[in-house]
Amino acid sequence: AGPCDIYSSGGTPCVAAHSTTRALYSAYSGPLYQVKRGSDGGTRDISPLSAGGVADAAAQDSFCSGTTCLITVIYDQSGHNSHLTQAPPGGAASGGDVGGYDFPVTAIGAPVTLNGQKAYGVFISPGTGYRNNEANGTAVGDEAEGMYAVFDGTHYNGGCCFDYGNAETNNMDNGDGRMETIYFGLGTGYGVGGGSGPWVLADLENGLYTDSKVSVNPNNPSITSRFVTAVVKGNTNNQWAVRGGDSVSGSLSTYYSGIRPTNGDYNPMQKEGAIILGIGGDNSNWAQGTFYEGVMTTGYPSDDTENQVQADIVAAKYAVTAMNSGPELTVGSTITLRATTSCCTTRYLAHTGDAVNTQEVSSSSSTALQQQASWVVRTGLGNSACYSFESVDTPGSFIRHSNFQLYVNSNDGSKLFGEDATYCTQAGLNGQGSSIRSWNYPAHYIRHFNALGYAASNGGPKEFESATLFNDDVSWVAGSGFS
Ligand code: AHR
Ligand code: AHR
Repeated sequence: AGPCDIYSSGGTPCVAAHSTTRALYSAYSGPLYQVKRGSDGGTRDISPLSAGGVADAAAQDSFCSGTTCLITVIYDQSGHNSHLTQAPPGGAASGGDVGGYDFPVTAIGAPVTLNGQKAYGVFISPGTGYRNNEANGTAVGDEAEGMYAVFDGTHYNGGCCFDYGNAETNNMDNGDGRMETIYFGLGTGYGVGGGSGPWVLADLENGLYTDSKVSVNPNNPSITSRFVTAVVKGNTNNQWAVRGGDSVSGSLSTYYSGIRPTNGDYNPMQKEGAIILGIGGDNSNWAQGTFYEGVMTTGYPSDDTENQVQADIVAAKYAVTAMNSGPELTVGSTITLRATTSCCTTRYLAHTGDAVNTQEVSSSSSTALQQQASWVVRTGLGNSACYSFESVDTPGSFIRHSNFQLYVNSNDGSKLFGEDATYCTQAGLNGQGSSIRSWNYPAHYIRHFNALGYAASNGGPKEFESATLFNDDVSWVAGSGFS
């Protein structure tokens, strides 16, 4: 049985079921998600390999070969047609895409395996997010509902708000109690858990909570596991609960079960029934996190039902897999990165002061210029499965993006710096060498444009994101010197 079969048996069936990694009903064989590729704008639905099974990641890989792909739809498996698509602009923020919509995510940001089979999660960067304002069957008002989601316990920030669940239908902050979602991250000043985070909390609108107070709930631990099962459920009559556990082993713990927060207007709840993923109710879109699967139910699931769902998640055997593919780089080695666009095949990725650029370099160039165009491959500062590139002539400084331009900056040791300086490799999109994508914004690749370095998406709104020559501009041949 899948998670939604278990909820049905418990008398609290799923009214929404979203996952890019697997079917959540044992009989489900329909589409899990849709990808759209950069080369021709074509779309393709990705379905499970078999009913109840893991997503057909190979179908995505072949459809997206030699180009980029975005996740444009996350289908609702429950039959309620509550599919998730790009989130529209809201009261707090507009996204950067056409019409103020948030960007969709790249389809390759979060590779994992389930029982040894490859699948892709939804890697939310700031500025990306999904929503459905016309969901069917979700709880409204003070009706009862349950929710769980599986997240990456190592991908989070303190920006508002990495949420999955029930929110306003008009993208506005309509007041306390208008939302009931799972939240994962560093919290922002309301209720928090023990230690320094990240935590599984609930976003109930105008606040992230873990119990009935605005204070520390020591029973809600900082999450340290790579995969985390997060549970929030809300009952009628001033009762709710927050639970969590390691998705790979063990059971769920109850972090809180009791009355609603007493500091605001949370009883009765005034849920509106839209569904959000990766954003706040008012489209606050500054959060990051990774979603693999999640559901919403009707009725208040029992702890026992949720414990059975957790056992099913454990049996799905989520595991990490390689983030890099294509030509291998060796940590500790010094490399050069030669451009492959026809204009520029004797130019190398280099820097002048802070600015990353491309420059003509050859074996007869000065030592100083050769060093400006040489990089030591390091283990990724923000994720050890990827790489960072340390400047040879400025040790301690690394290639990082800021406002999507590339710089060589000194490592200040911050979480943001490490993440801005972390890049994962794949076979070059034009068939030559490697393409090098940002870890924290994986739709964005190291690109040269007018001889400057950027973290560019394919066909994005900025001038340096032009689709023209994109594949060439993001393909680099790694070598050990200059010709
Ligand atoms: O409750 C936290 C956030 O506050 C909500 O997600 C958002 O709608 C508001 O800005
Ligand atoms: O480059 C995109 C973002 O811009 C970086 O993550 C951040 O450092 C800056 O605000």
